[in-house]
Amino acid sequence: MKKEQGIKVENLVKHFGEGETRVDVIEGASFTVNKGELLALIAPSGAGKTTLLMMIGCVTEPNSGTIWLGEEKVYENGWLVKDTRSIRREKIGFIFQAPYLIPFLNVIENITLLPQSSGVSEKDTKAKAMELLTYLDIAEKAKMSGSKLSGGQNQRVAIARALANDPQIILADEPTAALDTKRSISVVQMLKKIAVEQGVAIIMVTHDETVLPYCDGIMEIVDKKVVMKDSAEDIRII
Ligand SMILES: Nc1ncnc2c1ncn2[C@@H]1O[C@H](COP(=O)(O)OP(=O)(O)O)[C@@H](O)[C@H]1O
Ligand SMILES: [Mg+2]
Repeated sequence: MKKEQGIKVENLVKHFGEGETRVDVIEGASFTVNKGELLALIAPSGAGKTTLLMMIGCVTEPNSGTIWLGEEKVYENGWLVKDTRSIRREKIGFIFQAPYLIPFLNVIENITLLPQSSGVSEKDTKAKAMELLTYLDIAEKAKMSGSKLSGGQNQRVAIARALANDPQIILADEPTAALDTKRSISVVQMLKKIAVEQGVAIIMVTHDETVLPYCDGIMEIVDKKVVMKDSAEDIRII
């Protein structure tokens, strides 16, 4: 199968602050994640993992460099798109670590909240949500409140929510941090299935080495740059 680029960044640079308070976080990261691939992103706390995801997710502006989402160049020394919110809404699904859901809404409402606020009809968003819940094997929980579900079930609903806009890209920031090993592996296998079956490019930040063998590759932030590793073999996370 021909590889199609899902995410590409070139010479990405990010620092916060200026002068004495300046913190250099990323100094020239370059890499590509293809559609259909699930890549793990590892590095110690404070190394810039979340910052990197937020730049790719069009939330945080880089200082320089280039970002492509699919074939579309979205950043080159400034946002090239008029409205970064629409890029986030149309192309990107975000998954975070716990707490995952709005506790006073039921599962369906958690999934349909954002699509409905961007103008899609209630009927269509509900039908899509049920389809996703069935796909993720959790349809029987549709009417339950988020606060009544287990951690693993919560995260599956959060994945359904991230898929509600048919994203080309999923950015997951420590999605398994609050789960035990068995449930972590199940969530990561689900992300891999989504990548392959829906042609999505996924970057997943993790501190959990037991999930690395389920990923297609590993990116590590080393000396403020991103280094690609091919396999989990000689990586040990401290
Ligand atoms: N909005 C911000 N303003 C200033 N410094 C920030 C901001 N966001 C992150 N940082 C700093 O950037 C560095 C990387 O943070 P972060 O990306 O959250 O790391 P990680 O996710 O790998 O733990 C840290 O030193 C952090 O303090
Ligand atoms: Mg972080």
